[in-house]
Amino acid sequence: MKRTNPAAFLPLNTILAGDCIEQMNALPEASVDLIFADPPYNLQLKGQLHRPDNSEVDAVDDHWDQFDSFAAYDKFTREWLAAARRLLKPNGAIWVIGSYHNIFRVGSALQDAGYWILNDVVWRKSNPMPNFRGKRFTNAHETMIWASKSEGAKYTFNYEALKSLNEGVQMRSDWVLPICNGGERLKDANGDKAHPTQKPQSLLHRVLVGSTNPGDVVLDPFFGTGTTGAVAKMLGREFIGIEREEAYRKVAEARIAKVRKFDKEALQVSASKRSEPRVPFGQLVERGMLRPGEMLVNTRGKAARVRADGTLATDGFNGSIHQVGAHLENAPSCNGWTYWHFKKDGQTIPIDLLRQQIRAEMN
Ligand SMILES: C[S@@+](CC[C@H](N)C(=O)[O-])C[C@H]1O[C@@H](n2cnc3c(N)ncnc32)[C@H](O)[C@@H]1O
Repeated sequence: MKRTNPAAFLPLNTILAGDCIEQMNALPEASVDLIFADPPYNLQLKGQLHRPDNSEVDAVDDHWDQFDSFAAYDKFTREWLAAARRLLKPNGAIWVIGSYHNIFRVGSALQDAGYWILNDVVWRKSNPMPNFRGKRFTNAHETMIWASKSEGAKYTFNYEALKSLNEGVQMRSDWVLPICNGGERLKDANGDKAHPTQKPQSLLHRVLVGSTNPGDVVLDPFFGTGTTGAVAKMLGREFIGIEREEAYRKVAEARIAKVRKFDKEALQVSASKRSEPRVPFGQLVERGMLRPGEMLVNTRGKAARVRADGTLATDGFNGSIHQVGAHLENAPSCNGWTYWHFKKDGQTIPIDLLRQQIRAEMN
């Protein structure tokens, strides 16, 4: 049977006009790698909000954010989440951003729809808007839910790239980034904000570097000013935007037209060690790189003896290089490849060097 590639029929790098549910239902099934969604918050603002000097706060009171009831919002959420899930490839994933007004409702709808929640990430705003009435805490964060299409899906997670972004420290689930303002904030002809909820590019940069690869297709069903599209273009990803308001589509189109894609070399990110070929420690023994009976040491002189089956033995305890390291350190886990060293010509050399030699032969 001749197979067709659903992605070949995608309207890549365009902004589709209209309702996102209808538009998503018209796109080919299993064709998108990642969905980033910033849906209506359903803020339910009653009356206007004023600052202490009586000036009006520019809050989100737009018609696209109005729903008659929680039930109406839930129905809408369930419908767009179902349409989005149909579009995702089996190993695809979704990010949904929201505030306390909607994110809990979205969370349960995601699980009910069959998505598998991987993390919730708190975006802590380094420069939040103050609470003008002084009656509640300053609302200083939004929550993003990251979920795979289903349990067990092999979603993309560029662990090493995120770690590099964070200066070599594992990326945590709380991200401190400023809200979108200054030169990045798009303005209309009157100098007013072009959109009330434009997200910062830094947020999308981290999302896309962490959970997509160059060439992946990223769809944003609530495109607004096109932050997702702008960052996707810079990072060499393909995007599809859906937005029902013409004014926002125009702003987004003009914005994205000005964006320049980073060059190919700049788009390379640190590869995950997990994607490198697996080399069992036993192979070093089988190949004679380490001899049974040879002593391995750690940097503080703790030692274990190599056995013929690729395990280590020390003080009546034996196990893998990782298990013996963890036992000696009284730690829950240990990376034996970096923990253990062998001695050669008076030098102490990490065993990982031997693994790298084998990997080099495999390439
Ligand atoms: C929270 S804003 C997204 C802002 C965007 N992330 C940005 O950085 O500019 C939600 C957007 O979804 C659009 N929208 C709301 N309901 C929609 C629907 N059913 N179909 C398509 N777009 C919709 C609104 O017009 C609004 O621009």
